[in-house]
Amino acid sequence: MSELPDTPAKESQPLTSEPILRIASGFLAAKQLFVANEVGLFDALSRGPATLNELATQLHLPARTLRIVADALVALGIIERRDKTYAHSAVSYAFLSGSGSDDLRPFLRFWNRLSYPNWMHYEQAIRGETPRIRTPQEWTDEESRIFSEGVEAITASTARALAESYDFHPHVRLIDVGGGTGSFLVTILERYSQLECTLFELPSVLAVAQQKLSRTPFTHKITLMPGDFLQVPLPPGHDVILMANVIHLLAPDNIRHLLRRARQAVPMGARLLLVDFWTDATHTSPTFAALMAGEFLLVSREGDVYSVEEITQWLQETGWKLNEHRPLAGPASLVVAEAC
Ligand SMILES: C[S@@+](CC[C@H](N)C(=O)[O-])C[C@H]1O[C@@H](n2cnc3c(N)ncnc32)[C@H](O)[C@@H]1O
Repeated sequence: MSELPDTPAKESQPLTSEPILRIASGFLAAKQLFVANEVGLFDALSRGPATLNELATQLHLPARTLRIVADALVALGIIERRDKTYAHSAVSYAFLSGSGSDDLRPFLRFWNRLSYPNWMHYEQAIRGETPRIRTPQEWTDEESRIFSEGVEAITASTARALAESYDFHPHVRLIDVGGGTGSFLVTILERYSQLECTLFELPSVLAVAQQKLSRTPFTHKITLMPGDFLQVPLPPGHDVILMANVIHLLAPDNIRHLLRRARQAVPMGARLLLVDFWTDATHTSPTFAALMAGEFLLVSREGDVYSVEEITQWLQETGWKLNEHRPLAGPASLVVAEAC
């Protein structure tokens, strides 16, 4: 029998089902991580290494079931076990202990409580049907807080990268549109205290922001302005506009609408900073961005990830010109545009 012409012989690398099984079991790993966080395993380990029975007593959980989740996390390399004692690994200490460089526990809570249930309706969304999930406008105050604190946690490294890599010295008044809890503004103000800032957000999110900002030294530097950026004009008087992780919530028509609104609010030469998961022209790289497109579709019902080529075109159509595209942290990058 003759060989198929396009089938190269790969004798040294036999095909295995491992890539498929690894991806298919991803939801098991994710849920183990989420539940460990919910039951307080990482907090308990922050009090010091402990045996299963000690952890079970602290957390008021059956030792038998706690062992299942704890050992799964050992197997996944998130925590460590030496003989009978469980302990933080370097990575869980850094990101899940509350004492490390970042705290991703609010982000895990957000994905467990809000995203994970939403993904039960992903097939419906892909079939073009309206998924039977509540929109952010329908969330309880508690859910809004979980969302905002989760987003703040996962975007903290991006906010730091923006403050480190973009020079805000020439700017005087900065508005953060869809700025969540104000965490980007606080991070930027730590370096650029000359700035006067405005946080433009939905009223429910501003309530969370107000509480958080009152615990920072920057309350007097940040004016809170409630509003829906699709319904009302953006306030004038700013020379730099930040939109971080906002464009991906919108469909192209609403993106153009918002970019036009932004252009009408600023003088010629003002800058627009678009922080997002900008992709290559094929929408397949970065990989994380390609996966997140589904999350954005679900959370706002119209979201997606977009390429640098697409945003460049929409900027041109709405009175902006692209100045540059540069990396920030991980899959997040920055598009800088200038009002022309
Ligand atoms: C993914 S979060 C990003 C928050 C913040 N910029 C960050 O990157 O951490 C998107 C934010 O946009 C806000 N938002 C969504 N639609 C909005 C609208 N129509 N008007 C004002 N804000 C809106 C949401 O409340 C949410 O806080």
